Amino acid sequence: MEALPSSPTLFRVAPKFIAVLLVATGTPALAHPALIPLPTSVAWGNGDIPLGPNAVVSGKGATAPSAAFLARSLGIKQGERGSTRILLRLVPARTIGNPEGYHLRVDRHGVLIEASDPRGLFYGAQTLRQMVSGGRVAVADISDAPRFLWRGLLIDVARHFYGKPVLFKFLDQMAVYKLNVLHLHLTDDPGWRIEIPGYPKLTKGEITADGSRAYFTAADIRDIVAYAAERHIMVIPEIEMPSHSGSAGTAYPELYNGGNALDPASPTTYAFIRSVFGEVGRLFPAPYIHFGGDEVGDDAWKDMPDVRQLKVAQDLGSTKEVEAYFVRNVVKIIEANGRRPMAWDEQAEAGASSDVVIQWWRKARPDVLDAAAARGSELVVSPVDQVYFDYHQGPGEPGAPWEGNDNGPTSIAKILAWEPVPASFTPEESKKVLGVEAAVWTEFIASRRYLEFMTFPRLLAFAEVAWRPKGGRDEADFSTRLTPHLDALRASGINARRDEGDAYEFITH
Ligand code: ACM
Repeated sequence: MEALPSSPTLFRVAPKFIAVLLVATGTPALAHPALIPLPTSVAWGNGDIPLGPNAVVSGKGATAPSAAFLARSLGIKQGERGSTRILLRLVPARTIGNPEGYHLRVDRHGVLIEASDPRGLFYGAQTLRQMVSGGRVAVADISDAPRFLWRGLLIDVARHFYGKPVLFKFLDQMAVYKLNVLHLHLTDDPGWRIEIPGYPKLTKGEITADGSRAYFTAADIRDIVAYAAERHIMVIPEIEMPSHSGSAGTAYPELYNGGNALDPASPTTYAFIRSVFGEVGRLFPAPYIHFGGDEVGDDAWKDMPDVRQLKVAQDLGSTKEVEAYFVRNVVKIIEANGRRPMAWDEQAEAGASSDVVIQWWRKARPDVLDAAAARGSELVVSPVDQVYFDYHQGPGEPGAPWEGNDNGPTSIAKILAWEPVPASFTPEESKKVLGVEAAVWTEFIASRRYLEFMTFPRLLAFAEVAWRPKGGRDEADFSTRLTPHLDALRASGINARRDEGDAYEFITH
C-alpha cells in the first residue's frame, strides 16, 4: 500500500490484519467496514460519525449527478447544511491523476470525496455506501484507483432472454462493485434480441411463454444505455457473425443462402450488416461494436457456388481466408459508423487488423493472446476457466458441460488467484490490456434466479481482480469481507450462492 497523507488519529490496517481482528474477537460488527473491492489504500481512524436522516450531500455543477445518486442511495437530502455534510469536490488532475480514482476522508468535520472527474466521485460514493452501517460511518482516509480501465460483465440475452428489470438489477450491483462495462450478447443461433428497422422477421417470433416480448426495442435500448450511463457503465453491443447467427439465417434464409453462416459472397449480406450496424451505432453511444467472430466452422460455406466464385475472384485459398475477407468487410462497415470493431480471439488468428480489439477467451490458446499482443492489438481478457460464470462453482454443482469442467470448478479461490496479464508480456504489451471481462452465457441458464446464483458472488471476486493492484489477493481476507455483502445481496432479493448446499435450491428455476 502506498503511504497516505498522515493524520494523527489514523492508523493503517493491512487487509490481513482485519481478518485477524475478526478471528480474534469473533465479532465482525466491531471490525472495520467490509469493502469490496478493497481500496488501494485504507487508513481507519478511531470511532465513527453519524450519517442519519439529517445529513446532507453537497455537490454543484459537474459533481451534482454523483451527489444526487449518493443522496438517493443513502436516503438523505441534498443541501449545504445538515447534522453531517458529505461534500463532493472536483480537484485538478495533477492531484488525482486517474479519472476513476478518488480520495475519501471521513473525520469529525464530515465526509469529503475528491476526484478529478465525475467517475472518481461516483466510485468514492460507492465506497462510502459500503461504509455506512446503522446510520453511522467509520472515520477513515482512503485513496483508491482501479488497475484496469475495462471492468466488464457479458450477459448472454440471446440463448435465454433477460429484459430490462433483470439488467437494471445487474447494473445496480455492477455500480456497487465498480464495474464499468456491460457487454450484451444480443444475437446467436437461438435468438435475435434487438429490433432492426427493415428486418421485422428477426424478432417476430421472440415472444416468451407468458406472451411478453423477448427482444429489445429501440426505446428499451435507450433506457438500458441511460440507466447504465447514470452508473458510469458503458454498454457494448455484440452482434454475432458470420457464425452464431442462425436466428438471422432462419428469419431471412437468403442471408445464409444454403450455408451454415452469413454468406460472405452476397451483397444481400452486406446490405443487412450495414443496416444492423447503422441501427446499433445509432442506439449505443459506446465507442466499440463487437461483431463476435468466434467458432466459424470449416463447413460454414461448404458447396456454395457463389463462395466458390468469390474464392477465385479474390484469390482466397481456404475457408480461413474467406473468413478474413468477410471480416475485413465487416470491420470497414463498423468503422464507417465511427466505432472501433471488437471480436473474439479467433479473429486475431484469422488475421484481423490490429485495429480490432481482441477479446481472448480460449484459455487453451495462449499463443493467440501472445501473438495479438505482439501485433499491438488492444486486448480484453476473459479466459474460460476463470471468468465464464456458466461453469460450475463447486464440486458436483451444476454448470455448463464445456471444457472448463475438466479443470475443476470456477470457484472464488480460482478467480482470486487469477493474474490477467501474462508474465511474459513486455511493459508495452501490458499497456494494451484494456482490462478484464466476466461472461455469463445462458445456454443452460433459463431463469433469473439461476442467472443470479451463477453470477453472485463470483462477480464480487472478479471485481476485486478488476480493480485491485496486481497480486496480494488473500482468499481468507476476501471471504471475511464477503459475508456482509452476501447478506446485503440476499436482502436485496438476489439469489446469491452462499455455499455448496445452495446449488440444489436454485438449479434451473
Ligand atoms: C465464446 O465463448 N465462444 C466466445
